[in-house]
Amino acid sequence: MSKPPRKIIATSALIYANGSVHLGHLVEYLQTDMWVRYQRARGNECYYICGNDAHGTPIMLQAEKHGMEPEQFIKKIGAEQLASFKAFEISFDHFSTTHSDVNRELVAAVYQALQKNGDIKSKVIKQLFDPEKQMFLPDRFIKGECPKCGSADQYGDNCEKCGATYAPTDLKHPRSAISGATPIERESEHFFFDLPKYHEKLAEWTRSTGRLQTEVANKLDEWFDSGLQPWDISRDAPYFGFKIPNTTDKYFYVWLDAPIGYISAFKECCKTQKINFEEFWQADSQTELYHFIGKDIVYFHALFWPAMLMSANYRTPTAIKVHGMLTVDGQKMSKSRGTFIKADTYLAHLNPEYLRYYYAAKLTSQPTDIDLNLGDFRLRVNSDLVGKVVNIASRCAGFISKNFGGKLALNFQTIEKSPLPPLFQRGESEEIPPLKKGGGGDLYNEFATAGDAIAEHYENLDFARAVREIMLLADKANQFIDAEKPWQLIKDPTQHARAHEVCTLGLNLFRILMIYLQPILPSMAAKVRVFLNDELIWDQRDQPLLDKVINPFEALMQRIEETQVIAMVEASKTDLQVAEADKPKLALAPTINIDDFQKIDLRVAKIIAATYVEGAEKLLQLSLDLGGETRKVFSGIRASYSPQDLVGKLTVMVANLAPRKMRFGVSEGMVLAASNGEGIYLLNPDSGAKPGDRVS
Ligand code: MSP
Ligand code: ZN
Repeated sequence: MSKPPRKIIATSALIYANGSVHLGHLVEYLQTDMWVRYQRARGNECYYICGNDAHGTPIMLQAEKHGMEPEQFIKKIGAEQLASFKAFEISFDHFSTTHSDVNRELVAAVYQALQKNGDIKSKVIKQLFDPEKQMFLPDRFIKGECPKCGSADQYGDNCEKCGATYAPTDLKHPRSAISGATPIERESEHFFFDLPKYHEKLAEWTRSTGRLQTEVANKLDEWFDSGLQPWDISRDAPYFGFKIPNTTDKYFYVWLDAPIGYISAFKECCKTQKINFEEFWQADSQTELYHFIGKDIVYFHALFWPAMLMSANYRTPTAIKVHGMLTVDGQKMSKSRGTFIKADTYLAHLNPEYLRYYYAAKLTSQPTDIDLNLGDFRLRVNSDLVGKVVNIASRCAGFISKNFGGKLALNFQTIEKSPLPPLFQRGESEEIPPLKKGGGGDLYNEFATAGDAIAEHYENLDFARAVREIMLLADKANQFIDAEKPWQLIKDPTQHARAHEVCTLGLNLFRILMIYLQPILPSMAAKVRVFLNDELIWDQRDQPLLDKVINPFEALMQRIEETQVIAMVEASKTDLQVAEADKPKLALAPTINIDDFQKIDLRVAKIIAATYVEGAEKLLQLSLDLGGETRKVFSGIRASYSPQDLVGKLTVMVANLAPRKMRFGVSEGMVLAASNGEGIYLLNPDSGAKPGDRVS
């Protein structure tokens, strides 16, 4: 008796519409896709719903930088993203965008429901405002010195140097990352969702069986313990998003309308396919809903989102499936190392199924980070897919077409009657169902039966275990062929029948493996379907292909060459240079004329002495020869230079700066140095310049 099909919606987090798909996104999208394909293979009604997340300040500014209207920009990016995903064989039922009419309406309706419940409160808050750009600044767009450690160039929410978190108003010398202007504090009315009201319901919800992985539930407990805060769901104009009904200049914060995009995208899908929308989203729905997300966005999906759904009387997710972050060669993806790899860069050099397989081999049900080790990637794909799986078929197929007219044997009787190596003798599995056709084959039965465990691993997102089981079977199939040696049997006319059966069994074992691998390797499986003249149906794996004509074998997969991987990494470094060239102009100081500039008397100076300054962590005292005159200046370059590195060097100084009294003495000028997040770099004139020369 087969069970009725399950009804399932699966989603991947909606990708921001401001950049290219990269290998990090693909961890999630491939994980979801393989799971969805597995569900469909088992006969379940499973919809894969996705789209992009189009709103918010970064996207608004990015569009502006490209000289486009945001609507136009997100369309262009969305088309590119979808093309990349398709090339990786991601099988969305629908890919939408949060900037759609359906979503606009639904967001308004949900908001109205929240209001009706009394879950929306308004409050006037103080925020930093860019007087030049005339907009409120999100934390990420404010930079300044860390209030804890004094590091320069830190974001408004936390310091990358010392890890401190703080409010943007705490930054020292804050400035707008957009215009460079000094932000001012300004008041504005904001709307808040009453998250604390849902504390108890959420605590119960997150702890119910199967809802969250244990690690994730534990993380949530920390948040519950530190107390939930009302959630600010509004933003002031200018903002790219949906306007809040009955306001003139307030917009919904992107994270309010983004998850509602899951529902809207599904709603759009219902229009084109005959699906009952209500059945999936009503509060007491019996269908299943799974969100696949990365661990960086758990707060939104496991707290805000279910609380909003509860308030608006929709069903909540059955489970949230959290994965870890991608590292490449053990480190965070890095543009300069060439390991920040875009989907399209990968595709220009390598077959998408290599990555699908490698991720599958690495993914578990735990939210731990997964590492793409580029050397291991090549070796593993070559050894498992080419060396083991494809090898089975290529060792058997030729004999079938050359010696047996392309037709498979009638049964495996000859092999069964003769002793097999002990490996293949029946173990505990006495309940193996009898083969329905042609008789014979413990080995075949073993392969078919293994599907139950493999199915469970797929269901539980333990893809790594599924792959391990499948590769153990592939090893067994190869050992069987090694032991039988069809290339020798074929030379002996009395052994022809056996050779025929050996190759037939070999190809049947290969077929079962491909049934199991199909969710991971859909393209290779498509080629195998043609080759074997078979649909590779999961529930038909216990019925071997016998007495059947198959097609000539064609290459299924090439080995990965090291040069391809190297070329991909090099190309990723080039991507970076292109991206750098594409960067916005710096926020520059106001324009000056040449007279303003000429007021500054810049001179070449020779450093004749350099000493530490007691009690000043950042300063060095320099004695500078100006060609006839000596100046003493204090310079904040100690973090990057030791005194002995400096003596004898030429540099450039502002020679007519008014002397400044400092705690340690008087500074008689200033030397010029460039600085960025990583260090301070003193300016050097080219050789030939002499102390005292004017710089202009
Ligand atoms: N727009 C939000 C999601 C809104 S869902 C209503 C967002 N977008 S994202 O483009 O930044 O990320 C999309 C998904 O890709 C997230 O689940 C994120 O965790 C995942 N990944 C992005 N970079 C990743 C890695 N480097 N590694 C693994 N997953 C990563 O978040
Ligand atoms: Zn700091």
